[in-house]
Amino acid sequence: MPECQSTNTLLADLTTRSDLPEGTLVITANQTAGRGQRGNTWTVTPGLNLTFSILFKPVFLHPANQFALVIATSLAVSDYLRRKSVYPEIKWPNDVLVQEKKIAGMLIENSIAGETLQQSIVGIGLNINQQEWPIATATSLAMQTKKLYDLREELPILLSVLEERYLALRAGETEDQKKEYLNHLYGIGKALTFDAGGTTFPGTIETIDQAGRLVIRSAEGTRSFSNKEVAFRLPN
Ligand code: BTN
Repeated sequence: MPECQSTNTLLADLTTRSDLPEGTLVITANQTAGRGQRGNTWTVTPGLNLTFSILFKPVFLHPANQFALVIATSLAVSDYLRRKSVYPEIKWPNDVLVQEKKIAGMLIENSIAGETLQQSIVGIGLNINQQEWPIATATSLAMQTKKLYDLREELPILLSVLEERYLALRAGETEDQKKEYLNHLYGIGKALTFDAGGTTFPGTIETIDQAGRLVIRSAEGTRSFSNKEVAFRLPN
């Protein structure tokens, strides 16, 4: 689409009108109302970055294990960046950071029917050529490598690593992917400051649980938090 509000919203809408095959891709040069996690917006300069959504039908995953798709997608974006000699970390749950700045975000929206994950719309915003940002915490591939890229050449590279990660997940490599995800998890094992339930406390990320909740060890013991329940930063 030359322009649309949100590729996730458009693809979700299309799936209600017809039976689209797994792998259907919606991509736009100009997303006018891009959506992020936790109700945030995703705003980038038109034409400079990759902004797209893909339809998956991960019926092989039990809804309790849906975080596996977050892991596979985060690893795929990381694989792509490593191919470009950029070495990212993953900030739980699925921000991709380079030198503590965000280079990519994902919005994964699942439809569950009974015991199956019927469809999953995986939306990816990957910053490629944009070099000016209204916030200091954003970066792009061009800023990291001092090169500009042809988006039409980059998209198939990213799609092929995404397909590889998805097929590996379908083949049952969930635990291997989780280990890799933990190996690249930003802040794991370090002293961090967490904000949860209106309080701030020091703690350490130990792991993630089966549901993808963040497992934090603090003076109060070990507790698990979902995405909306906790935020963290390096201590002041
Ligand atoms: C985040 O980091 O908060 C997630 C950002 C996800 C942005 C992508 S861009 C393509 C797709 N369409 C959307 O509206 N959002 C996702």
